[in-house]
Amino acid sequence: MTDFREDGAAALEWAARYLERVDELPVLARVEPGELAARLPLSAPEEAEPFAHVLRDLDELILPALTNWQHPRFFAYFAVSASEPGILAELIAATLNQVALVWRASPASTELELRTVDWVRQLLGLPEGWHGHIEDTASTSTLAALIAARHVTGRNATVFSEHAHSSVEKDARMLGMEIRKVPVDENLAMRTDDLDLSDVAAVVATVGTTSFASVDPVRELADRAHAAGAWLHVDAAYAGSAAILAENRWMLEGAERADSLVINPHKWLLVPMDCSLLWTSRPNEFREAFSLTPEYLRTSDYVDSLSDYGPALGRRFRSLKLWAVLRCYGAEGLRSIQREHMRLARLFADWVEADPDWELAAPLRFSLVVFRRKGTDEENEAILERANRSGEIFVSHTKLDGRYVLRLAIGNFRTTEADVRHAWDVLNR
Ligand SMILES: Cc1ncc(COP(=O)(O)O)c(C=O)c1O
Repeated sequence: MTDFREDGAAALEWAARYLERVDELPVLARVEPGELAARLPLSAPEEAEPFAHVLRDLDELILPALTNWQHPRFFAYFAVSASEPGILAELIAATLNQVALVWRASPASTELELRTVDWVRQLLGLPEGWHGHIEDTASTSTLAALIAARHVTGRNATVFSEHAHSSVEKDARMLGMEIRKVPVDENLAMRTDDLDLSDVAAVVATVGTTSFASVDPVRELADRAHAAGAWLHVDAAYAGSAAILAENRWMLEGAERADSLVINPHKWLLVPMDCSLLWTSRPNEFREAFSLTPEYLRTSDYVDSLSDYGPALGRRFRSLKLWAVLRCYGAEGLRSIQREHMRLARLFADWVEADPDWELAAPLRFSLVVFRRKGTDEENEAILERANRSGEIFVSHTKLDGRYVLRLAIGNFRTTEADVRHAWDVLNR
């Protein structure tokens, strides 16, 4: 059982201490598969335990098996960070435990979500009048978009670049849609010369691909998709957030003509996992695809409910953390963090370019550096393994034209120039 005040204070102290010392922990978990599982009881306790036991086991059992995403030298995948206002808002969201089935079930959750998502729309320069809501992940957001696209067009094929995120293919597969992957050009952007979209339900343009942060030609794809009666969905899960900077707005040129667009504030806007924003310029069609109100939820005060725009009925109060982060940083605070990340990425890329032993493998885009040591794939793989095993940094890899390349992604607001220098030193060591 718990004493909420006393245990709450201890939990908050644990959280604060964790964030203060996270840079002293290994970034990548140093456990073997099954090591934690072997230390966990096989069944739930019959008798109640004090919450203090949970906190104790957090240190003894859980901490060693964590890969520390909040670590300032986490440079793998897309680095993310949960800021303190977002963390506290999560505590409050759990406290309130709103289940926003329909407007009446949580007027606050419904209306705050609409307003905060619209704040982000404005910050990104997206068109007025778009309808936005929050899903858990970009995987779900894109799933919803494909469902709407199929509903509207009555067609079953999806088109996306060979470098689109695997979630797009997974979504299409789950829906039993036909998958058509399109090769990329020298800029790693989707080629458009051979596109026949006449029987296509949805084209998915990626703004900021996962491997290289490359940007598909959104305007041209919008023209082509609409001429052929297809839906255009833009997956800007990572890079889209960076359109809060005027200098990055180019990436969304043409996106004003999209039918739907997703960005993940849990990636580069300091909001704790999970928070994915999905807008549509065709809310009526979205509602047609998703709205299904059972009798027990029908009320005389029924207004648009956000469960009419996606798969889930019960919806978490996710907007609370987005609201807290937007207010406690302000748009200017978020812009200056992203600007610094892009500066740090440029700096690292400059070190790579200036060193005869290393090379950039793809053009620097946003805060992602794709690079390799001049040598074999095996050498690069060994460098990555050794660097990650050191616990000092965590970087990841991808393949470009069959070649093994390294990725350094900057996205944690705790990352400093010294951390980036540290990464360069570890890789060279
Ligand atoms: C471009 C892109 N789209 C989609 C995703 C999937 O995001 P989520 O984990 O929110 O489903 C990612 C993940 O990194 C991504 O980079």
